[in-house]
Amino acid sequence: MSQAPAHARSSQTVTLTEDATGKSWKLKVLEGTMGPKVIDTRGLYGETGYFTYDPGFTSTGSCDSQITFIDGDKGILLHRGYAIEELAAKSSFLETAYLLQYGELPNRAQMEKFTHNITHHTMVNEQMARFYSGFRRDAHPMAVMVGVVGALSAFYHDSIDIGDPQQREVASHRLIAKMPTLAAMAYKYAHGQPFMYPQNHLGYAGNFLHMTFAVPCEPYKVKPVLARAMDRIFILHADHEQNASTSTVRLAGSSGANPFACIASGIASLWGPAHGGANEAVLQMLQEIGHKDRIPEVIEKAKDKDSPFRLMGFGHRVYKNFDPRAKIMRQTCHEVLGELGVNDPLLEIAMELERIALQDEYFIERKLYPNVDFYSGIILKAMGFPTSMFTVLFALARTAGWIAHWHEMLSEGQKIGRPRQLYTGPVTRPYPALDARSESVP
Ligand code: ACO
Repeated sequence: MSQAPAHARSSQTVTLTEDATGKSWKLKVLEGTMGPKVIDTRGLYGETGYFTYDPGFTSTGSCDSQITFIDGDKGILLHRGYAIEELAAKSSFLETAYLLQYGELPNRAQMEKFTHNITHHTMVNEQMARFYSGFRRDAHPMAVMVGVVGALSAFYHDSIDIGDPQQREVASHRLIAKMPTLAAMAYKYAHGQPFMYPQNHLGYAGNFLHMTFAVPCEPYKVKPVLARAMDRIFILHADHEQNASTSTVRLAGSSGANPFACIASGIASLWGPAHGGANEAVLQMLQEIGHKDRIPEVIEKAKDKDSPFRLMGFGHRVYKNFDPRAKIMRQTCHEVLGELGVNDPLLEIAMELERIALQDEYFIERKLYPNVDFYSGIILKAMGFPTSMFTVLFALARTAGWIAHWHEMLSEGQKIGRPRQLYTGPVTRPYPALDARSESVP
């Protein structure tokens, strides 16, 4: 397991001056291997009595990490130093998951062993099937996933001791292996179809497609082009540095919570429409638009500050020029639709929306470009997935990244995460008797 080395301390310092008193403090500067330098504020409160204020953490580095590097201005995404474009073209999801977790690409023997381990952990405890029947059939599959992944901690007691590296490794293999099984079961449950067991002769993505779309009464052949596209979608979603769900997993894990509970917390965070839920929202938006002619009206609505509406699939907290994953996804989208012979009018609407938005001053000024989710929904729809499953597939893939970050955090012995706040509530006041109180806010 790779261990993040301590960051390098640069000889530079930054001076903070309190204008009212002229008092100043020197703050150390830390350097990574790539990317902006950071100001070390760990001792700030002790030395100065000030906290930093950064809601949304837009200027805050919360940890050292060796896993993923993003340069949002240049549209660069690297996993352990390898470009996402190269991984999407040459690697597989399982190999990428190995790379994320262990820090290096596996050699042939290591890859075979890892594939064997994952393949032989894909079944879930048979009792898990009964767990599903506690959910309503029309429950959102993400609600089901939050529940069943958290519930794994009640089934696999032999891998929840986070102090034991062997148990940590088994838990991570179990999670990567069982996520496709649990996700396919969520789909089957919603459709009232029998659960399909994993097939060890199939690859990771092919096995998932089989468990999702096969039925026991007839043979099902996984189309290689779809298995490859599915695998590529998984690679593109495998990790993305300290995003909301990954930070959630790290924060949950920093308290010593077990790995299954931590990943369940990541799934909950990913569900939101500003994060992983965006691919579902993109498709809903395209369906609501319905025709190319309505695009100008929709663009105007997205620009209207009095309307909460946003163009789903546009904009990213980090990428301010283009999202490199979106480029690959766009290409995959055309490949899949071409192979399947699908002529989806939603794709036409999507293309036109992209074209018009990219020429619009509002979107240019704010550097709002299509993100990875803009195209993934169209591909997944063509493959036969209902929109409610889109974020589930994202969660399945992101589990590889969440686990890598969870391992990295534990190997560094990170302290429990505990942000501070700028308190703006009432100042200290006496407790009034019940009859002496005026009417309060209901
Ligand atoms: N449509 C219209 N306007 C937008 C959009 C959008 N999709 N995204 C941002 N803006 C505008 C904002 O209103 C704001 O305008 P202002 O400066 O006039 O106030 C400006 O662009 C900056 O937006 P912020 O919200 O400050 O940018 P932030 O970095 O915080 O948000 C986010 C990023 C949440 C992704 C945002 O762009 C968004 O909501 N996009 C739509 C949802 C989406 O596609 N999410 C998927 C993210 S990718 C992923 O999770 C894999």
